[in-house]
This record gives sequence, structure tokens and C-alpha cells, in this order.
Amino acid sequence: MSPFDVYPLFDIEIVRGKGCRVWDSAGTEYLDLYGGHAVISVGHCHPHYVAAVSEQLNKLGFYSNSVHNSLQQQLAEKLGRASGYEDYSLFLINSGAEANENALKLASFHNGKGRVLAFKKAFHGRTSAAVRVTDNPAIQAPVNRGMEVSYLPFNDAGRVEDELRKGDVSSVIIEGIQGVGGIIVPDDSFLQALRKLCTRYGACLILDEIQSGYGRTGRFFAHQWAGIRPDLITVAKGIANGFPMGGLLISPEFKPVYGQLGTTFGGNHLACAAAIAVLDIMEKEQLVANAASVGTYLLDALRGLPGLKELRGRGLMIGLEFEQPIKEIRNRLLFEQKVFTGVAGANTIRLLPPLCLSREEAAEAVGRIRKSLA
Ligand SMILES: Cc1ncc(COP(=O)(O)O)c(C=O)c1O
Repeated sequence: MSPFDVYPLFDIEIVRGKGCRVWDSAGTEYLDLYGGHAVISVGHCHPHYVAAVSEQLNKLGFYSNSVHNSLQQQLAEKLGRASGYEDYSLFLINSGAEANENALKLASFHNGKGRVLAFKKAFHGRTSAAVRVTDNPAIQAPVNRGMEVSYLPFNDAGRVEDELRKGDVSSVIIEGIQGVGGIIVPDDSFLQALRKLCTRYGACLILDEIQSGYGRTGRFFAHQWAGIRPDLITVAKGIANGFPMGGLLISPEFKPVYGQLGTTFGGNHLACAAAIAVLDIMEKEQLVANAASVGTYLLDALRGLPGLKELRGRGLMIGLEFEQPIKEIRNRLLFEQKVFTGVAGANTIRLLPPLCLSREEAAEAVGRIRKSLA
């Protein structure tokens, strides 16, 4: 047997990491401006993280959700304090798609309605409801097409109200900043309008903060730039620095019903130990503030690069859209300049480095990006 060949791969194997650097099997060092797809939040192999996960593994790796697990309580309290959502509840799962799946389901249980409003270029994951609200028919199989979804233009509150007025919408789901779509930042006024409209028409507002959350934009959640409070917030990726985990933050208006949601692995002891370590490191090293200041420095330094059509983003979530396709630039960055980056569509490079990226590393990154454009 061999792995299902569903990913186009670079011919590189990463075998070691430290902070914002990784090394391949030949010993070559790379600057990681991608964080393994926005997953590495506190840096590769942070000593406190390694110690916390190792210590937990030596005590207990797993037991089921049918008994108390005080690590879940500890994590919920810490996350509530760090995010400003102390009055919300936390449901833990194993991935971003699962977080959105449960958010859509909980919203529908709550208000008894079935239609969902999503946005053009949205990406919410690959499980059945999550992929259905993802604006990409190429990754929706016929079995995914059951749920009723309308994809609306971004930043058009009038169109959202037209749909909500029909009275059948259960939830509106939106990314804090669209990631896969190309680092598209919603207008603050659009998020504020969504909040008001959802309340007025009895729909739940779901903020997918899987890529944009957990400090990445220089606030704990990207939607906090707009000063709104969604009904449901989904998190994953950086939450446990690479240990598979997702979370759903649930406003107090939702009452839990035994058995309505459930999971075997969600919130397991190892994942909680990893996620608690992440929040401890974020607090001690002030990584949200670091993402804000290093992100501002990076955005300023990247402005005016040759061939750059548009620079978008907030904090350490940055999109560089070029006039021409970026495949060659990205290859030069990886194979000549030894820098990992992400991509969105044909023309946009995505930067999603660990939140601990230093000013010096950011300056080095800009230098290497410039060289790849020469
Ligand atoms: C905004 C957003 N939502 C959901 C997901 C899905 O997360 P996962 O791959 O952990 O299921 C992703 C992953 O890229 C994402 O960027």
C-alpha cells in the first residue's frame, strides 16, 4: 500500500524545526513564512510546548468524553480570558472542517431553519456541510450537495438582507479574513452590518477564525477589529501548534442538549495539553502584540515590490497579489532563497508565518523575497 496520491508535492522532506526555521532531510535550512499552512503559531518545537505534551503523554494520552477531563475546563478558562469571550462555552473537535460542521449544525438545531448564506471565494473545509458552504464546486461531490446554500458577493450587506428577509436562513458563515480566497479582508462596516442583520432576522452569525484567528492578525480574532461578537466562532490550525484540534466557541444564547453533539477524540488529554501550552506561550511571549507589530513592519516593507499589484492583510496574514502568475516566483523562493510560502489562486502569495516571527527574520524575509523577484 502507498499513500493516496492526492497532493501535488514539492520534492522536499522536512524533518526538523525550531522557531521560524525548518530543515530538510539533506540538512538544508529554510525560513518558514507559511507555518505549515498557518498551523505553527508559537514556533516549531517550542521547549515549553514539547515539555507540556511529553509530560502529558507520560501521564495519560487519552480517555473518553464520558468522564471528567479537567484539562478541557482549564483550556476553556484560558481561552475565554485570552480572547475576551469568558461567557462563551467551548466544544472541542479535531479539525477546522469539523468545527464548522458543528457550528452549522448547532445553529440549525437552535433556530430550526435550514438555509445557509456563505460568500464568494469562501473556504470552510472539506467535510459535508463545510465543503457545501465552500465556494468551489470542484471539491464538492454529488453527496455534498444536499444542504441549501446561497453564495453572496463579499461586502454587499444589501444582498445579505434580501436573502435574510425570506425568513429561512439558519446561519451566515464568513471567514475573519478570507484565506484560501486570497487574503481578502472584509470591511469592518460589512461585519457590523452582518451582526445587526443576523440579530434582526433570527439567523446565527458564524465567524470562521480557523486561519485568521488565534492572534494571527494582531487581535485575538480578526473580527475583533470590527468590534462585533458573533454567535459562534470556529478555531483550529494554530490552536495546538500542530497537534490536530478544532474548537467551537458558543455564545450563552445556546443551551446544550445531551447527546446533540459528540466526538471520540475531540478535547483529548494530549490535544488539551498542547492547546494550554500554546495559550501560555502566547501570553508569556505576547505573541498577539508581536503579530501586530512585526505584521505592520512587514506590510510596510513589502509595499512597492516590483510587479506587485496589491498587498492585503492584517498582522501576520498577508497576501501579495502579482500582475503575473506566481508559480515561478514561489519556486525561486523555495528552491533558491529557501523560504516557504503559501499560495492563493494563480497570482497571490500567502504569508502565514509563526506568530513569533522576529523583526530581524521579517527583514531577512523581505530581502529574500526581493531577490526572488530580481
Ligand atoms: C478558513 C478555513 N476554514 C476551515 C478550514 C479547514 O480546516 P481543516 O483543514 O483543519 O479541516 C481551513 C483550512 O485551510 C480554513 O483556512
